[in-house]
Amino acid sequence: MTTPSALEAFSSMSGTSEASGRAAYEAALDHLREASRTYYGAGYSLMDDVTYDRLRLEVKAWEERHPDAVGPGSPTDQVADGAAPTGDVAHTTRLLSLDNVFTPEELAAWGASLKRRLGHEPTGGFTVEPKMDGAAIAARYRDGRLVQVITRGDGTQGEDVSHVIGTIVGLPEQLPLPVTFEARGEVLFTQQQFEEANELRTAHGGAVFANPRNGAAGTLRAKDRPYQPTMTFWAYGAVELDGEGEAFLPAGATHAETLAAVARAGVGTTAETPAGLHVVDTLDEARRKVDEIAAMRARLPFGIDGVVIKADSVAEQTAVGVGSRFPYWAVAYKLPAVERQTVLRDVIWEVGRTGVLAPTAVLAPVELDGSTVTRATLLLSGSAILRG
Ligand code: IVH
Repeated sequence: MTTPSALEAFSSMSGTSEASGRAAYEAALDHLREASRTYYGAGYSLMDDVTYDRLRLEVKAWEERHPDAVGPGSPTDQVADGAAPTGDVAHTTRLLSLDNVFTPEELAAWGASLKRRLGHEPTGGFTVEPKMDGAAIAARYRDGRLVQVITRGDGTQGEDVSHVIGTIVGLPEQLPLPVTFEARGEVLFTQQQFEEANELRTAHGGAVFANPRNGAAGTLRAKDRPYQPTMTFWAYGAVELDGEGEAFLPAGATHAETLAAVARAGVGTTAETPAGLHVVDTLDEARRKVDEIAAMRARLPFGIDGVVIKADSVAEQTAVGVGSRFPYWAVAYKLPAVERQTVLRDVIWEVGRTGVLAPTAVLAPVELDGSTVTRATLLLSGSAILRG
């Protein structure tokens, strides 16, 4: 695997000559684009999320130091790095990504930028909800009937994946109310659905999915499979469709009220997840909720890779606006990775804790959820127990 070394190669370039710095920058852009192409296209990860986020941050820092050298096609300026399969269905309004923070200080800096853009302290409070680790979709309901499901694509145009209608928990084909709107949210496999999907795939002679997120993206886009595993949807937003949303999404509604209207219509929302949707007054309280949701992570029945904090007032959201890739009124507080990729250096046989001789993978050290992993006990089922 070459990509963590792409990060090392780029990191070590700072302080070297202008020409070699630029060559390393361009090589790093290629690695980012390639990683996004396989992630969004083929549905597997060339580098793990931590390595990807770090490389992206280093590239952005380089671009800030060399603004004249940044080309118009830089992946750092595009939704999904400009690499997601686009499709031909125009989105009603752009489906954006989220900016990331990793520390309380960065969250405070996001709060300060919100205040600067508003010209005063936000008064409408914040919402805190899980950042679900699946695939983004837009689901269009007309008169209560689910008529179209579209992937995020490049944020402006997505792929029509309406073949999944009727197979997703939380996204009913028919609502009890004749409402017209577009629900936006994440489709994913819960842990149990993931196991069922892998059983279904192996029964059909297919390979198991690498992880639930890759599985969800691949399942959405696979149109001709003779089987359709069940997934789950949770909305994190809703927008007007055909200019008919007024009654359903009244002007002046907050984010929490919008999701409550979506839930009343019968569609699953982040508020119905075990992590919930929390309305708080201050960013300090929001941070405490982030910690609470982070502490629940291992017990949640689905994967999360962060916690999303949003300005609750739609009026304040409108006032601060959106950038080219993400809204200024929302931010993702990323949680430590629970999945990393590294280099397999050797496989040796060791006596395990139970006294049984077991193959052990010797790994290039990699940090996982706060500890450094160098060995993994391999199980015959194909999974591994990781050890620091
Ligand atoms: S809000 C305009 N809320 O994370 C608002 N996104 O890494 C943009 N995601 O593209 C999205 N959980 O697909 C929002 N509670 C949540 C989310 C969430 C997962 C996804 C979403 C977004 C991606 C960004």
